[in-house]
Amino acid sequence: MSVVVPEEVTFTWLKFLMLMLLGLTSPTRSESIGCRLWYQRKCIYMAENFDVDVVGIDLSINMISLAIERVIGLKCTVEFECVDCTRKIYPKNTFDVIYTRDAMLHIKDKPTLFESFYKWLKHGGTLLIIDYCKRAGSISLECEEYIKKGGYYIHDMEADYQMLKNADSMT
Ligand SMILES: C[S@@+](CC[C@H](N)C(=O)[O-])C[C@H]1O[C@@H](n2cnc3c(N)ncnc32)[C@H](O)[C@@H]1O
Repeated sequence: MSVVVPEEVTFTWLKFLMLMLLGLTSPTRSESIGCRLWYQRKCIYMAENFDVDVVGIDLSINMISLAIERVIGLKCTVEFECVDCTRKIYPKNTFDVIYTRDAMLHIKDKPTLFESFYKWLKHGGTLLIIDYCKRAGSISLECEEYIKKGGYYIHDMEADYQMLKNADSMT
């Protein structure tokens, strides 16, 4: 199934998100993981409208090439990098905000990546993850098959929450 979200709806939603959840009103450094088309636009939108430096990363060279083309000529501080977020190392306390949507389902070793997130975030920084979760207990065979076929790593909310809590306590 493919869903087309009108640009203005996405950006209104994004503006709400930035203002209410992330509090991006002053110079901030933010990182986005998993930069496909809609996401590239969001990175650029953040950098253009909220006076923030944005780093957008993705494993896919095609996505990053398109993203770089999009920023040519724009006056905003956004950089895109083709990198595996599980291998990349940023210095401690680099980002005010780390934001990822629909990319964590591809990550097998979430605990290690979550630990890195907390290291890369500045003290008091914000980690915002929007991703898929399974309901606790058994799920339908159809759903199980879909997850297996896609090679996704999807857990229930409690398991994800526990992984985040453990990672936070390690840093
Ligand atoms: C389902 S797409 C979601 C893209 C985007 N966040 C959005 O909401 O439109 C998942 C993206 O995560 C990227 N990705 C998967 N594993 C990754 C990794 N280890 N490091 C960086 N990006 C990764 C894929 O290349 C893909 O572009």
